[in-house]
Amino acid sequence: MTEIPVISSKGIFGDLKNYTKDPIAYLSLNFEKHGDIFRFRVLHRTLVTTNNPDHVQRILQENNRNYQKSLAYKRLGVVLGNGLLTSEGEFWLRQRRMSAPAFHKGEIASYREIMLDETVKMMESFHTNRPVNLTAAMTQLTLKIIARTLLGLSLEDEVGQRVESILPPGLKFMIKRITSPINSPLWLPTRNNREFTDSMKVLHQIIEDLISFKEKQPGEDLISVLINARDEDGQRMTPQQLHDEVLTFFLAGHETTAVSASWTIWLLKTHPEIEQKMRSLFGTPDEIAYLHAIIQESMRLYSPAWIVGRQATGNDQLGDYQVKKGDSVIFSSYLIQRRKDLWEDAEQFRPERWLESKPVHKYAYFPFGGGPRLCIGNHFALQELEIILKELFSRYQFDLQDDTFPGEDYTLTLRPRRQLIADMTEVAVKV
Ligand code: HEM
Repeated sequence: MTEIPVISSKGIFGDLKNYTKDPIAYLSLNFEKHGDIFRFRVLHRTLVTTNNPDHVQRILQENNRNYQKSLAYKRLGVVLGNGLLTSEGEFWLRQRRMSAPAFHKGEIASYREIMLDETVKMMESFHTNRPVNLTAAMTQLTLKIIARTLLGLSLEDEVGQRVESILPPGLKFMIKRITSPINSPLWLPTRNNREFTDSMKVLHQIIEDLISFKEKQPGEDLISVLINARDEDGQRMTPQQLHDEVLTFFLAGHETTAVSASWTIWLLKTHPEIEQKMRSLFGTPDEIAYLHAIIQESMRLYSPAWIVGRQATGNDQLGDYQVKKGDSVIFSSYLIQRRKDLWEDAEQFRPERWLESKPVHKYAYFPFGGGPRLCIGNHFALQELEIILKELFSRYQFDLQDDTFPGEDYTLTLRPRRQLIADMTEVAVKV
């Protein structure tokens, strides 16, 4: 057994500054120096980090019972409650089993119409000869799609508008709390805290009202599937559980997809030969396979959920290394998905690779996580991205005002730092 190398750091902050300033640079530099796995300190906490797909497979899949979600998820749970993303053990399993049917491929296909309708409406609102902020548009669009598929709620309606005005700043606040290492407790009457808790109260009330409305009048939406779901003993979810799941799907179900759409647009606009090929395949039998390859490749390079964390509930062995009970282990899909020994031309955007061969390791690519806690919305997201990209590129010719690298912002998701502004110059022939 080998001891995990330790990065020594002085002072009470440890490597806080280096890590938070640029986590990917910090991690990759130290992987280069110390190998696949090391320990480092942030304030009073020591974190283990690994860049080895075997280790990831062990944690997420083979020995997943030895790990629970990390501290970041616990912080998220303070606001989100006990939804799928944050819950654990038997409670999580029951909720996952009850929610799974709502996310089966067949069920997801029935949301195609809504996704398309919202996308078309959004695209039609773009003006030619006027700049469009595509990054903001993608966030708005994915929020509209999740609101309608999940709750049958149109953001144009009065209730929808209230949700739209509360949710984005609420989520921003939540993300800040999770990603910041030092937080004041929510009960402290700071202005930020007060504003946040007040708006969350309104949001909770809206969700409760919507649930009780749907209980009486079910629709063709996810929430109606969840309301009618029963566990093995014939029990339904309680109103509180329904509420927590709805909030969770809102959070997990739009930002990641929006971010991925933005990166994909930027990648296509900086690889004109790929954009051209994609456009030429629209309307042919190869259209979906190529779009799919583009999306997979975009998520390889810019993995929206760029880091995943777990806490060991008992000792474990990762290859030769001993992980101890209580250790926090973090690993980045962003870095593993760019490993030169796992990927040919690792830094290049080359969608064709997905049509030629499979990744060499099951955990060389895990933008949706893996094992039992694999993202429940992965088919949902892929279908949504296909629709958005196809509609955008088949309706418009456009140039980005600035197509240089936009920079990376590592929050809960990996966002392009600069927003993508496009001049929609010409309406193309609709496919
Ligand atoms: C490109 C889009 C998306 C990406 C990259 C993504 C990524 C992920 C990842 C990496 C996890 C696992 C986290 C972990 O193991 O700690 C996860 C979990 C989850 N995702 Fe997604 N996600 C996406 C879209 C969605 C959508 C559209 C929904 C819902 C409509 C959703 C709902 C969830 C939920 C509920 C979980 C927790 C599942 C569980 O633990 O049982 N995600 N997602």
